[in-house]
Amino acid sequence: MGRQLKLNLFIYPGGHHEAAWRHPKSHTDRLLDIRFYQELAQRAEAAKLDAVFYADGPALVSNVQFATRFRIEPFTWLSAIAVATERIGLIGTASTTYLEPYNAARLFASLDHFSNGRAGWNIVTTGAERAAQNFGLDEHPPYAERYDRADDFVRVVGNRRGCPGLRCVR
Ligand SMILES: Cc1cc2nc3c(=O)[nH]c(=O)nc-3n(C[C@H](O)[C@H](O)[C@H](O)COP(=O)(O)O)c2cc1C
Repeated sequence: MGRQLKLNLFIYPGGHHEAAWRHPKSHTDRLLDIRFYQELAQRAEAAKLDAVFYADGPALVSNVQFATRFRIEPFTWLSAIAVATERIGLIGTASTTYLEPYNAARLFASLDHFSNGRAGWNIVTTGAERAAQNFGLDEHPPYAERYDRADDFVRVVGNRRGCPGLRCVR
């Protein structure tokens, strides 16, 4: 069999277009209704997509006044999707800068176990500088430092093999 393209449904609560929430057919009233996302994931699964993808950053962006920018906590969200679906992959973002490897390993292992091996990790070092303030730091660690830590972090979570027993989407 040749190479296959993997298709993910990348769900942003407010939509990917800046003004998506203003469209008459948008569902802004359901953005905090977990059943809304379960239904979207079920439709993606029925359409034979490979995964749902949930991006995250542990901070609000600066321009919150223009559109919905909140972030639902990804593991809470992915757990709800896991129980509403059977086969679709469950990819979530976890930051190597603002988590400890133990936290990440535990979260992904739990999700992976009860979803029968469907968890996937979007590994990021976090771009949003203001995340630092949410963790009691004076400033966001510089690029090189974040990526050095990320190398170690991924090795630790992945039993030193460089990649965990999860589906890595780097
Ligand atoms: C498909 C895709 C998904 C991404 N998801 C996230 C995310 O959920 N959270 C995040 O902080 N950054 C995310 N990023 C951004 C990158 O991880 C990275 O932080 C960004 O490219 C900035 O690069 P830097 O690492 O040089 O600062 C994503 C990038 C891509 C291409």
